[in-house]
Amino acid sequence: MTRKFSRRAALAAPLALAALTRSSAAERTSLAEAAAARGLLFGASIGDEASQDTDYADLYRRETRIVTTDVALKFDWLRPDKDHFAFERADSIVAAARGAGKHVRGHALIWNDRTPDWLRGLSNAELARVFDEHIDNVVARYAGKLHSWDIVNEPFWPMQGETGGWRQGPWLSAFGPSYVERAFRRARAADPAVRLALNEAQCENDHDWGRSIRPLLKRLVEDLLHKGVPLDAVGFQAHLQPQWPHDFAAFADYASQFGKKGLDVYLTEFDVNDQSLPDDPAGRKDAVAAIGGAFLGQALKIDGLKALVTWQLADRYTWYREIWSHIHPNSARAPTALAFGEDLKPNPLHGAMHDALVA
Ligand code: G3I
Repeated sequence: MTRKFSRRAALAAPLALAALTRSSAAERTSLAEAAAARGLLFGASIGDEASQDTDYADLYRRETRIVTTDVALKFDWLRPDKDHFAFERADSIVAAARGAGKHVRGHALIWNDRTPDWLRGLSNAELARVFDEHIDNVVARYAGKLHSWDIVNEPFWPMQGETGGWRQGPWLSAFGPSYVERAFRRARAADPAVRLALNEAQCENDHDWGRSIRPLLKRLVEDLLHKGVPLDAVGFQAHLQPQWPHDFAAFADYASQFGKKGLDVYLTEFDVNDQSLPDDPAGRKDAVAAIGGAFLGQALKIDGLKALVTWQLADRYTWYREIWSHIHPNSARAPTALAFGEDLKPNPLHGAMHDALVA
């Protein structure tokens, strides 16, 4: 049976949550341990914050087994100008994580969004040269060091009206849709062992965006596999949006199709956008937990699921802080989106995640 998760249900959720969370924070193992017991890697994206905030670094040390580079390996951060590769930040994050015994996911090697201004005005031939050189250099530099790579990020954005629903950007302009295949083949040549992933947004939402992207992604994956392109995994970001309709069981069925094809499936950027939830911090945290727990209750059943990664680890550094402060510059309200709070202590979502993992 599928269950729609409405805003009304989210607001009513706090009442139900006390009964839903089965353990106290002190009784729980780390999320990494709870995940490992069912053969899953648990982790979070990581940026510079963890090198500047020792308490936050401790949280990563304790709670994660895998980390994803947040912005450090993105094209615009690595390539501030045409002739310069700025590897320092990524090098230090990868070295620190590996030194702490963590697996590392590289994020967003090729993405048609957030590309630097200097790419504009290049001819298609020049773009092709930059694309190939970028993949060869970056993938080779971290060869043997990463668990997996998001080789292509968010290929589809049908809302832009491009034929085929492709996200517009320089790589699509230069090659058309074949940029995806080219990126995967080139990456495999530069690192024969790393798991190569296609990472997509919105599919977990059962609204127009999610419903329009799902079939496009499925067709792309089938086409890549048919052509023998080296694709190992599909990533679903899972930035949950409580204000939109959800059918988490339908999402789990959809995602399982990829596992049944022999691909790994990752939940790559799990968090909950609390913007539509009420101001009251305690009630909001409970609602976030109810939604996150309901999602994982279904998503952890996905065939081939190998990793659950949240986008940052604690509310102190969630990306929604920046978004919220832009929309509501005078608001004292701090977003809550993650397993750990502003104070780095477990949120109700931590209990819901732990319960789902040990169920
Ligand atoms: O750290 C700099 C700071 O030094 C500078 O003064 C300030 C001025 O703008 O910018 C700060 O950098 C920001 C950076 O995040 C900090 O981590 C950038 O402006 C901001 O654009 C950047 O946004 C990131 C965004 O991707 C674009 O790359 C977010 O942190 C990051 O969470 C977000 O991640 C994306 C995934 O890659 C793909 N899926 C969606 C997800 C959330 O949007």
